[in-house]
Amino acid sequence: MGMVATAEFIAGLPKAELHLHIEGTLSVEMKRRFAVRNKLSLGDASFASLQVPEGSGDQALDIQQYKMFLALYFEGLKVMQTDQDFYELALEYFRQCRTNNIVYAEVSFDPQAHTDRGVPFGAVIEGLGAAQKIAREALGIESQLIMCINRDLTLESAVNMLEAACPYRDKIAGLGLDNVEDGHPPNKFQTVYDAARDQGYRLTAHCDVDMVNAREHIRQCIHDIKVERIDHGINVLDDHSLVGAATERNIHFTACPTWRKGDPKPRRVDRIERMRGLGLSVSLNSDDPGYFASGYMNHMLNAVAATGRWDNSVVADYVKEAFAGAWIDDERRAVYIRRVDDYVAASDTQCAT
Ligand code: ADE
Ligand code: ZN
Repeated sequence: MGMVATAEFIAGLPKAELHLHIEGTLSVEMKRRFAVRNKLSLGDASFASLQVPEGSGDQALDIQQYKMFLALYFEGLKVMQTDQDFYELALEYFRQCRTNNIVYAEVSFDPQAHTDRGVPFGAVIEGLGAAQKIAREALGIESQLIMCINRDLTLESAVNMLEAACPYRDKIAGLGLDNVEDGHPPNKFQTVYDAARDQGYRLTAHCDVDMVNAREHIRQCIHDIKVERIDHGINVLDDHSLVGAATERNIHFTACPTWRKGDPKPRRVDRIERMRGLGLSVSLNSDDPGYFASGYMNHMLNAVAATGRWDNSVVADYVKEAFAGAWIDDERRAVYIRRVDDYVAASDTQCAT
């Protein structure tokens, strides 16, 4: 292996992001702006400013932190009420994409978290869609939407969400599954996944890292609800047969080597390397950059490359894997991968002179 990839190399790489919660990009500034506009009072708790206690890596403590994060995430998203809010939220993310040279993004959102508060499904889609249009036309960024079932809600609520999405079928590429995993296995939503598949949605689901019953949840994702991708899914490493099944079905894993304030370094890098070493398809994603200390893509990638002592070719490999896992046709995929290859070749030439 050569030198650790430089910030300049990472900045210039054309990238894809496949695992990003738009509600997780809410900054303190935007939260205030939306709250003022919508005449809401604000709680002052902010996960970004919370320091994780020492002992990170302890399963119970990490799950407690994860639940605390999700509680704050759901508290924060209450300031989003109108299509204008969703438009501004998404546009700011797409500006970050531009800054980070993300040329293709699949953006997750949580419909139930909004419709349950009385925000119309259509307002969310209108706002996000208007930002996608600007991203495409003015920023040169292609994007698609993934609607996520909040797994801690009822099956009936998820069924209603799929039905509410019907008028917007052509605006939503995929179905995901997120929020608190404890006690809410993927196969709770088997029927919704089957119906969504019939309607032509692409399928993914979160299997968060080191959760209770992590292996069983991954097994259900692969064998029962039959997803194409798993968000996180790092505990696949805990079971040979799951690695085999994921490989056979070419399941892509959207890993997130994020860190929280107080974490000494990016989390999960060694396990991501092991997954890749076993031949699994893995991408690197920022998840909730408004809340985690890892922030947006380039900041995260620089720290991950330093932690893993990854050279340019290793970083480029993960970026190509993101395009490999993207829900796009093979022609466009080839164009993106060619762009990465050309960029790497041009960087190599520069080094040689
Ligand atoms: N919703 C937003 N971020 C999430 C995460 N990291 N895990 C589960 N649900 C989420
Ligand atoms: Zn996530």
